[in-house]
Amino acid sequence: MQPHDHAQQQPLRDGSRRSFLGVLLGFASAAMAALLSIPVLRFLSYPLTTASESSGWTAAGSLSDVTTALAPLSRTLHLTQRDGWRETNTNPTVYLVRKGKAIQALSAICPHLGCSVPWDAGRSAFVCPCHGGVFDGDGRYRSGPPRRGMDTLETTVRDGQVLVKYQTFRPDVPNKEVTS
Ligand code: FES
Repeated sequence: MQPHDHAQQQPLRDGSRRSFLGVLLGFASAAMAALLSIPVLRFLSYPLTTASESSGWTAAGSLSDVTTALAPLSRTLHLTQRDGWRETNTNPTVYLVRKGKAIQALSAICPHLGCSVPWDAGRSAFVCPCHGGVFDGDGRYRSGPPRRGMDTLETTVRDGQVLVKYQTFRPDVPNKEVTS
């Protein structure tokens, strides 16, 4: 090899090393961008991939408590509703009532204008404090301004626990209409 050959090949080798490093850097940047985009994509798709939990089953108490109770059993539910990015916690009250072999759940929200209805042990009835609506022990309309009985909720029993599907209903209409 002539001395001037070496001088001619040097810039070529430098050039190919630089382009190799450039390609490597390009791959590394692309991989890094892909990794960084995963949480961003998850964040953006969160409301699309997360369904509202408002229609799920919620534990309301043990079956044995209901079957041995002499009066409607008041229970507070712990609900988490997710709507897009918004998460709301609510604690509605329901009553569990034994009806023969079945368990019935009643919403404590008065079907007249939405007050909370307590059980009146002295009168063996649900008596609304707002306008005096009265309902039987199983929620049937007895007297006063409400246009229907207390709203029943779907129930099921799993592993000795009563589960309730909590819903809310339109007030002051003669028939149950689900609002959420
Ligand atoms: Fe209950 Fe009016 S809100 S009777």
